[in-house]
Amino acid sequence: MSSRLVVVLDSITAHRHNVDRKPNFILMIVDDMGIGDVGCYGNDTIRTPNIDRLASEGVKLNQHIAAAPLCTPSRAAFLTGRYALRSGMGSTGRVQVLLFLGGSGGLPPNETTFAKRLQQQGYTTGLVGKWHLGVNCERRGDHCHHPNQHGFSYFYGMPFTLFNDCVSGEGTDVVILFLLVCLRHLAALTCLSVLAITVWYVPFVLLPTWNCIIMRNQEVVEQPMTVETLPQRLLGEAQNFIKRNADRPFLLIFSLLHVHVPLFETPGFAGRSRHGRYGDNMEEMDWIIGKVTETVDSLGLANNTLMYFTSDHGGHIEDADARGQKGGWNGIYKGGKAMGGWEGGIRVPGIFRWPGRLPAGRVVDEPTSLMDLYPTLKYLAQDTQPDRLLDGYNLMPLLEGAAERSEHEFMLHYCGIYLNAVRWHPPGSDSIFKVHFFTPNFTPPGAGGCYETKVCLCHGDYVTHHNPPLVYDLFHDPSESRPLTRDTEPRFAEILEQTAKAVERHRSTLPQNQAGDSHTASVPNQMSWEKILWRPWLQPCCGTFPFCGCKEDTTHT
Ligand SMILES: *[C@@H]1O[C@H](CO)[C@@H](O)[C@H](O)[C@H]1NC(C)=O
Ligand SMILES: *[C@@H]1O[C@H](CO)[C@@H](O)[C@H](O)[C@H]1NC(C)=O
Ligand SMILES: *[C@@H]1O[C@H](CO)[C@@H](O)[C@H](O)[C@H]1NC(C)=O
Repeated sequence: MSSRLVVVLDSITAHRHNVDRKPNFILMIVDDMGIGDVGCYGNDTIRTPNIDRLASEGVKLNQHIAAAPLCTPSRAAFLTGRYALRSGMGSTGRVQVLLFLGGSGGLPPNETTFAKRLQQQGYTTGLVGKWHLGVNCERRGDHCHHPNQHGFSYFYGMPFTLFNDCVSGEGTDVVILFLLVCLRHLAALTCLSVLAITVWYVPFVLLPTWNCIIMRNQEVVEQPMTVETLPQRLLGEAQNFIKRNADRPFLLIFSLLHVHVPLFETPGFAGRSRHGRYGDNMEEMDWIIGKVTETVDSLGLANNTLMYFTSDHGGHIEDADARGQKGGWNGIYKGGKAMGGWEGGIRVPGIFRWPGRLPAGRVVDEPTSLMDLYPTLKYLAQDTQPDRLLDGYNLMPLLEGAAERSEHEFMLHYCGIYLNAVRWHPPGSDSIFKVHFFTPNFTPPGAGGCYETKVCLCHGDYVTHHNPPLVYDLFHDPSESRPLTRDTEPRFAEILEQTAKAVERHRSTLPQNQAGDSHTASVPNQMSWEKILWRPWLQPCCGTFPFCGCKEDTTHT
């Protein structure tokens, strides 16, 4: 072949390659951050210039809703595009998130995540940061719930979550929470065995060893982990993943440990903000987002990369303190993390940037869900293979401005497996009605949070059922402070009727015995005591169990 022909053929191939090339996806998800903490959502004292820039160069969603107000179920729904109870990740009672890495609960191996679907479409897929959706099923190292089993060919980060026990001197979350909940609910015998385990834990201060670990793919590389160096290490991993895959379609989920407690104290950020350690952590997180954006832009990937920024749910009000040492601010919205259907726990930032494809500076007020990512990414990857019923919708028409109305006429709000509230956006109306069937009981009453148990619960004496339900119009009353009545709202009866019908339609899509708030769901419940409890033979470990311990060599990174 003549060299000229080769050049021509090459340029045709290169051209076709560019046209056909599927976009990259970088999804950045922050932990426990309130919508009121971010500059472009109205905070004027925390500096988040990098997040604000993503919003001004892209599309900002003002009514972006997490499927659950807690990490484990919210993340399960996000990844599967379906309400958490469909995969058994909705709690039936006491325990609402996974508490030990050595438990057997987690995202079931037969579940489908959008990462798995993208992998089938030729994507290179990576997860850097927090997972919190389980590790093992039957024995150490089976890794049935591990990110590698769920469509991520690369994983670096915490299979669990950041929590106070990971840093000495920050106190303990898990044991206290566990005992509080246990003593109030279980028979003495069960509590005794729980106590026995606890007594075994506490003196040896083993929780950090069991839960605070770092894995690279299938291998435990650090146990217990050094928290101080994590922000830099995770950022480096995210940047390297992008650089390594710059010339092929990739998905990166960057699941940040910020701004969950314990808060970081990184030199360069400590003491710099106007809101204590929490503000410092917000500003550090924003800097990290800026670095990721810079990496994308400097590699020339911006026009072919959809970047997304969100939080898994709202801020943890019970954890905040007046000095701003901890925090999470949900702005004008009522409630927060673990408070069922109250807006503050589920309305989170949602920002999409994709120069050349999405308009800059567009703002969308319509209801959208974190579960919409699944169908949106599938659509963009041109994945037309059959799939299960999804609870999300493709967001592209709304993001591009081709549609003005959301396809979410109704949206359901679960608290564990219990249907807590329904949102209705009637056609042709601005109203956003929200119907609460029950609300959490605050302790002490009127405190604005569940300070006794540290998180609100969804069942039994922990909630108050409302008949008729509590109804608000979020369009006129975003703070949910003025319940509507038959006298004040002409559409009151219609609201109850329409939402009841929507619930009925939804329930008809659930397995029979799941539809009635049943405790014996046909999809195995991953959040039962039996599955949550720590078992030595499931505990991830580097070295010979129980003498686990290793440090990652970070001198080269
Ligand atoms: C900004 O965030 C801080 C810390 O969470 C909070 O105390 C403050 O009230 C927020 N400001 C606004 C205007 O929402
Ligand atoms: C990206 O897209 C924008 C808008 O279409 C265009 O102006 C810009 O030149 C593109 N940048 C690159 C690097 O192709
Ligand atoms: C996964 O397996 C369980 C049984 O272990 C079954 O009940 C469930 O329906 C399966 N889920 C899917 C999505 O196939």
